[in-house]
Amino acid sequence: MYGPGYTPRRFLMCPPAHFRVTYSINPWMDPDKPVDLPLALAQWEELRDRYRSLGHTVEELEPLPGLPDMVYSANGAVVVDGRVLGARFAHRERTDEAAAHREWYRANGFTDVQEPEHINEGEGDFAVTDSWLLAGRGFRSSPLSHGEVQEFFGRPVIGLDLVDPRYYHLDTALCVLGGNEIMYYPPAFSPGSQAVLKRMFPDALIAAETDAEAFGLNSVSDGHHVFLPQAAVGLFDPLRERGYEPIPIDLTELLKGGGSVKCVTAELRPAV
Ligand code: ARG
Repeated sequence: MYGPGYTPRRFLMCPPAHFRVTYSINPWMDPDKPVDLPLALAQWEELRDRYRSLGHTVEELEPLPGLPDMVYSANGAVVVDGRVLGARFAHRERTDEAAAHREWYRANGFTDVQEPEHINEGEGDFAVTDSWLLAGRGFRSSPLSHGEVQEFFGRPVIGLDLVDPRYYHLDTALCVLGGNEIMYYPPAFSPGSQAVLKRMFPDALIAAETDAEAFGLNSVSDGHHVFLPQAAVGLFDPLRERGYEPIPIDLTELLKGGGSVKCVTAELRPAV
C-alpha cells in the first residue's frame, strides 16, 4: 500500500489537557505568551487521528494536573525490543512525569521496565536507527546515561554533543527517516560530532536553518510518511526525492513549549 520502508507503528501520546507555559526551561518557552488551550487540543487530536488513519496505533497516557509538559510524551522513556528504560528528568518541574510513564508501561503489559540511575530524557535524546542508538548530551541527558542505555539495550550508543541551547534535545536537531537514514541540522552539534555524523551518514539529508528553526527535524517517520511541522517547507521536496511522503502537521500551540511532532510522540518498539 505504501512505500517499501513503511511499517505500522505503536505510539504513546498524552493529551495536552493541562498544557501551559508557566516556566521556562528552554529558549522557546515564554510564560508571557498566552497558550490557546482548545487550539492546542485540536491540533494534538488532528495529529493523533492522522497517525491512526495511516495505519498506526496510538495509545493515550492520562495527563496529570500540575505537569504541563506531560504532552511531550517522547521524553518519558526509551522503548526498544519491547524493553523500557524510564526517564530521569533534568529539571524539577518535570521530575514527576517519569513515574507516570513507568506506571503506564507496567500496567500495559511491559514486563521489563527499569528506572534509570542517570539523567536521561527518553527519546528526546535517544534516536533509534537499525544499527545504533544515537544519543544527545550537553543540555539534558547526562553523558553517563549513554553508557547506561548501551548496557540496558545491548545496542551500540553513539554520543553526540549538542551545543546550541535552541536545540537542547537530540530530537530537535536530528530525525531517523528509516533504516540507517537520517536528516539533521549540523550547527546544532559540536565540530567533532558533526564529523562523526558525516562519517556515519554521508548521504544524510541536511536541513537548512529555516527548517530547523521551524522544528522540521522534530519529525516522525514510519518509513514512508514523514509527519513534520508544516512550516518546514524546505524539507518537503528533498524528502519526496528520497521516496518519502511529507505529511505537514500544524502544532503551533505546542511549539510554545519548545516541542513539535516528535516530542509529543513516544514510539513503543516491539520485541522482534
Ligand atoms: N517544555 C519541554 C521541555 O523543555 C519540551 C520538551 C520537548 N520534547 C522533546 N522531545 N524535545 O522539556
